[in-house]
Amino acid sequence: MTRLPDGRAVTIRPLDASDADALVAAVEKADPMDLRRRFMGVPPPAWFLVKQLMRADGVHDLVLGAFDGAGRLVGVAQFDRPDDEPTAEVAIEIAKDWQHDGLGTAMLTALAECARERGVHEFTATYFADNLPIRRLLHDIGHVVTSGYESGEGHMRLSLDEMPEAS
Ligand SMILES: CC(C)(COP(=O)(O)OP(=O)(O)OC[C@H]1O[C@@H](n2cnc3c(N)ncnc32)[C@H](O)[C@@H]1OP(=O)(O)O)[C@@H](O)C(=O)NCCC(=O)NCCS
Repeated sequence: MTRLPDGRAVTIRPLDASDADALVAAVEKADPMDLRRRFMGVPPPAWFLVKQLMRADGVHDLVLGAFDGAGRLVGVAQFDRPDDEPTAEVAIEIAKDWQHDGLGTAMLTALAECARERGVHEFTATYFADNLPIRRLLHDIGHVVTSGYESGEGHMRLSLDEMPEAS
């Protein structure tokens, strides 16, 4: 159980095939703009995300979910990499009514720990250039190795082995 600064509690754990219904419900309830930010454009249909979840092997693709007390999936954070290299692409979405309360930070911190245990030492991320929340969140969980912008797209490479510098 993870308790957020405002007192609300969530359970953060890896998702598997048995969480397909919870994932579909979360996508259906998600804020459309948040889905666009998460997928950087038109989001794929829920069935495609379920298929991806079924394929996640927990080593190259790992998906963490956060559940509230009623069992609702309120956050999904994941990394994936095509090979055994120590670099993986990270993505996250937190339900609108759970944002800005530290859940994104808690989830990416937990994901980074899982990643290190599996030999991943760097996260890469791409996002719309004006996505300030994800930029701040990434700064909070690792050391920024490189970051930049191109054609409205931001990208960041984070070392998970070094703590972020105090701001
Ligand atoms: C990005 C996202 C995951 C952040 O989740 P969250 O639970 O709100 O994050 P936290 O509460 O842990 O806050 C993390 C940082 O972001 C900042 N932040 C959160 N919401 C913010 C907002 N609306 N505006 C500005 N900063 C914001 C927080 O202040 C914090 O920064 P700080 O430590 O410097 O204060 C969430 O906004 C989201 O799901 N967005 C839609 C999907 C998306 O954009 N995904 C990223 C692309 S993969």
